[in-house]
Amino acid sequence: MALGSDRSAPTAPSLAGTEAVLDIDAENGRASQWHTDVTFVPAFPLFSVLRGVVIPPVGGDTVWANTVAAYEMLPPMLRSLADQLWALHAKCLRLCRNAPERRGPAAATLRDRVQSTVYQTEHPVVQVHPLTGARVIILGCFARKLLGVSSAESAHLFAMLQDHVTRLENMVPWRWSVGDVVIWDDRATQHKAIDDYGDEARIVRRVTIDGPVSVGIDGCNGKARSGGAEINAAAWQKDGGRTAARLLRR
Ligand SMILES: [Fe+2]
Repeated sequence: MALGSDRSAPTAPSLAGTEAVLDIDAENGRASQWHTDVTFVPAFPLFSVLRGVVIPPVGGDTVWANTVAAYEMLPPMLRSLADQLWALHAKCLRLCRNAPERRGPAAATLRDRVQSTVYQTEHPVVQVHPLTGARVIILGCFARKLLGVSSAESAHLFAMLQDHVTRLENMVPWRWSVGDVVIWDDRATQHKAIDDYGDEARIVRRVTIDGPVSVGIDGCNGKARSGGAEINAAAWQKDGGRTAARLLRR
């Protein structure tokens, strides 16, 4: 069964000889902050697929948090607050804790790409899942600021909601073996790789599957705020949207 159209990562080069496989090598950076993939563009992935290539003997698990359960567990008063919030998502290097210091061959390329094109998108914090219709909380480390409130208020509100998403009750970990393939619903989860394997090698490879432009509970779409994000929105309209639209009709 085809999940949809794959798409290369907008700010990272694809693995040599492939169109859309992202090589995630701990030598170049570690996805050790909570995030949903590529939320700095309006049409971020619907699914992600990850394969274990080089796995450390101890540690390096990936952990996912259920953002549907997180929303449902919010007290009604906080749910209605979250329903009204929008967040500015931007591409940044802080996804990879040590990215600026790492010296692997792809680290400089990643830094150049991230710094050369600005990717900024405004998303509703509570979105309607494109396949299930469930309400989900979309935040994570690409969410840089909540809109319409001060920086201090944004930091407090973000921490409150993000902490709720990453409660232990909402999590599931995966202990990798070489060759494992994991598929997840990007629109209903956040994830991170646990950075507890020291200097051991860790390589996983990812493909993301196109998703539609985000939709809030009032029907408003996520909005590109920069050139890079606008390109993504246009590309989705042009081709990936056909695949996502087909999925939506099922
Ligand atoms: Fe990721």
